[in-house]
Amino acid sequence: MSENNHFPKDFIWGAATAAYQIEGAWNEDGKGESNWDRFSHTPGKILEGHTGDVACDHYHRYPEDIELMKHLGLAAYRFSTSWARILPEGRGKVNQKGLDFYSRLVDGLLEADIMPFATLYHWDLPQALEDEGGWTVRSTAEAFAEYAEAISKHLGDRIKSWATLNEPACSAWLGHLLGIDAPGIKDINKALLASHHLLLAHGLAVPLLRKNAPKAEVGIVLNTSWAEAASNSRADLDDARKGDGLWGRWFIDPVFGRGYPQDVVRDVIAQGAKPDFMDCVKPGDLATISAPLDFIGINYYTRNLHRAAEEGNEPQERFRAEKSPENFSELEWEKYADGLHFLLTRVAFEYQPRKIYVTENGASYSIGPDEDGRVHDKYRVSYYRDHVAAMQRTLAAGVPLAGYFAWSLLDNFEWRSGYTQRFGIVWVDFETQERTLKDSALYYRNVIKKNALVEEIEQ
Ligand code: FCB
Repeated sequence: MSENNHFPKDFIWGAATAAYQIEGAWNEDGKGESNWDRFSHTPGKILEGHTGDVACDHYHRYPEDIELMKHLGLAAYRFSTSWARILPEGRGKVNQKGLDFYSRLVDGLLEADIMPFATLYHWDLPQALEDEGGWTVRSTAEAFAEYAEAISKHLGDRIKSWATLNEPACSAWLGHLLGIDAPGIKDINKALLASHHLLLAHGLAVPLLRKNAPKAEVGIVLNTSWAEAASNSRADLDDARKGDGLWGRWFIDPVFGRGYPQDVVRDVIAQGAKPDFMDCVKPGDLATISAPLDFIGINYYTRNLHRAAEEGNEPQERFRAEKSPENFSELEWEKYADGLHFLLTRVAFEYQPRKIYVTENGASYSIGPDEDGRVHDKYRVSYYRDHVAAMQRTLAAGVPLAGYFAWSLLDNFEWRSGYTQRFGIVWVDFETQERTLKDSALYYRNVIKKNALVEEIEQ
């Protein structure tokens, strides 16, 4: 390996998970019900009727999971905290046992020399707040501030890095526009209200996190999309602009002080939003939302290819990739590592964040243990190799990329797909809760050990 294959000395290699996807213990030790508990318990919402009731049982098995992380050589672990564990009713009375769980987890990580990266909201809202209107009402943003205060007061600087929200675009659009995630609403006006209140919640939390954890860094995790038009036709190009606007710029622009993009305002009104929907943006909100951040987290899986219905308009050759497992994972997400490079470069040069982390990246393949108990997930290995290589090009371009988190440490509850999609670098047998390192985990371990792009897995 040449010197060029090395990453900067302080580059942070980590892995990510989320509370509802791994913890289980959905009603233990005083935890309140969340909207994802309610959603997954509603027949027909999740494939095969799966729920996160037990998931990876991480709530009880976290010491074993920390051992795994240590074995992999992770420098950091990105997890989310469950709001309903800390404030079972969403606000008001704090559940000490919930705080204690995260305290034990964080101390265990620190003992293992792994930096805790916490995300306050990875999609699971206390049901008590959902019942009051959830993200469609402003008071939920105020309750989020209460939650941020309670948890950061307790964990403060033991957390190296605080992120407020994970992918607010998914909470808003998947949860309130398409209705495929909790709370399962399909209403463009409610979705738009939700998007603003989510961003407001982020903005209200930032100064509280800074006050309670002055040494920690504070940021937000977005899934700003990499949108490409399938051809140069006007219709495809405009569809790509719309996708980029709704999924990306609608969130990243206000966070970086640019306000809401006007082309998206026009698009959503054309789609049926009330012309006065922006009245929910009160004086001062945009300043609150654009509080300066230490980092931006970017989750990247695939590009979004935009193809507007239009006669006689063939997609360009390069968009006709063969649908092989090498090129497409089981969710039919295309492996497109250049998209990560383009996206990070764009975010860096257009928005000038102080620092960027890739906070999620990975692929779903269900390849499981063979007769020898080994998991030869070669397509996932190839996915990681290509994305690690893409980050080297990104660093060479001068982007302030400071770390990378594989999604996910463990196979887990993949939202609406339940356990039918596996993103883990560690195999989980959901009957026995046994964990097995996949080849991708061994590959990643080698990357971490060498701090370089490597070709091979470590045996
Ligand atoms: C992201 C989510 C994460 C996981 C991956 C596959 O959108 O943040 O929880 O489900 O997709």
